[in-house]
Amino acid sequence: MADRIALVTGATGFIGARLVPALLERGWAVRTCGRRPRPESLPAAAKYHTVDLAGDDDLAPLLTEVTHVFHLAGASSSQSSEDEMYRGNVVTTERLVDAASRSETLERLLYMSSTSVYGEEVQLPSPVLEEMEPHPSRAYGKAKWAAEQVLWEADEAGAPVIIMRPVSVYGPGNVKLLASAILDAAIERFAGNQVLPVPATAIEQRLVHIDDIVRATMHLAVHPWSVGGAYNVVFPSYPTSHDVAEVIAGELGMEVELSDDPECGLDVDARGKTHDEMLAAGMAPDILLTKERFRFMRKANPNNRLSIDALLSTGFQFDDADLETGIRATIAWYQEHRWIV
Ligand SMILES: NC(=O)c1ccc[n+]([C@@H]2O[C@H](COP(=O)([O-])OP(=O)(O)OC[C@H]3O[C@@H](n4cnc5c(N)ncnc54)[C@H](OP(=O)(O)O)[C@@H]3O)[C@@H](O)[C@H]2O)c1
Repeated sequence: MADRIALVTGATGFIGARLVPALLERGWAVRTCGRRPRPESLPAAAKYHTVDLAGDDDLAPLLTEVTHVFHLAGASSSQSSEDEMYRGNVVTTERLVDAASRSETLERLLYMSSTSVYGEEVQLPSPVLEEMEPHPSRAYGKAKWAAEQVLWEADEAGAPVIIMRPVSVYGPGNVKLLASAILDAAIERFAGNQVLPVPATAIEQRLVHIDDIVRATMHLAVHPWSVGGAYNVVFPSYPTSHDVAEVIAGELGMEVELSDDPECGLDVDARGKTHDEMLAAGMAPDILLTKERFRFMRKANPNNRLSIDALLSTGFQFDDADLETGIRATIAWYQEHRWIV
């Protein structure tokens, strides 16, 4: 039997779907759960339980013999209402932590929180350190912060808690945030535009690649003194919205044109119509089409810069590849899988 037995919640999601095979490759026994029926893509070696963590089911059987919990289940603003975000982040965490508190085998309880806990309305000292008092400003950040409180209480009671706070994660399989921006550009190319208009005001972005998140998660989960800490996770270079648009446009054979109109590009109706045409032409419907064009690149965040000293002090190193290479490879993956046409 494997020495380490993982429970991965949210295993049907973007990050979980990449973490599970990575754990199996390293010899872990892996139990997983999600609400939907077992996905075909889940490796056969992973056990799967269909369970609503915020429902009434007894969660104790999920934790039997588990040494490491990777609590990834959560609900984000891209796809959920405020109530759903509370239920998906806070109620799931309360119930899981309660069940974990009765485990006799648990060595680590890792929670995937988010840098959205810091908020965007109160300016924090920059770069933002994990120990600064957060001021979450939106429902998602508030729900993640409330879920963190459940874990910090468990930590005080002696639970082996580790909290990760990633920024927007991108890469193959991602369906929102940067993925939606890539879809927006692909829509305009499909509509026959060779030029990609982008608002002239450059907005600083922050991203992290899915492979770095998976490696950081596994690294922190077995690190000897990571327990009791929170860890920001962001790639250490910050591109502007123009840099990101240049990479996307370049990969799609388009040219960026800076525009004084913040609402530049196709309007919502034209984007919806072209999107329908792309689906009719065989595009898979996975990437989220947002009402706002380039939604995730629109607003400057006063707390954009984050300290990653805590993560680096554990010996973690980001992949050498630069953001441009990662974004290009992601677009190539979308094209290959017909997530964009
Ligand atoms: N992706 C990012 O950019 C990013 C950035 C920062 C933090 N995070 C955090 O990282 C975690 C994973 O993100 P992700 O992008 O992989 O999320 P995702 O693709 O949206 O997947 C969410 C997962 O949570 C599960 N889930 C939601 N509510 C549940 C419930 N009540 N009971 C059981 N399972 C439930 C879903 O199961 P079903 O699909 O089967 O319903 C799914 O497996 C989340 O907590 C998220 O807040 C993500």
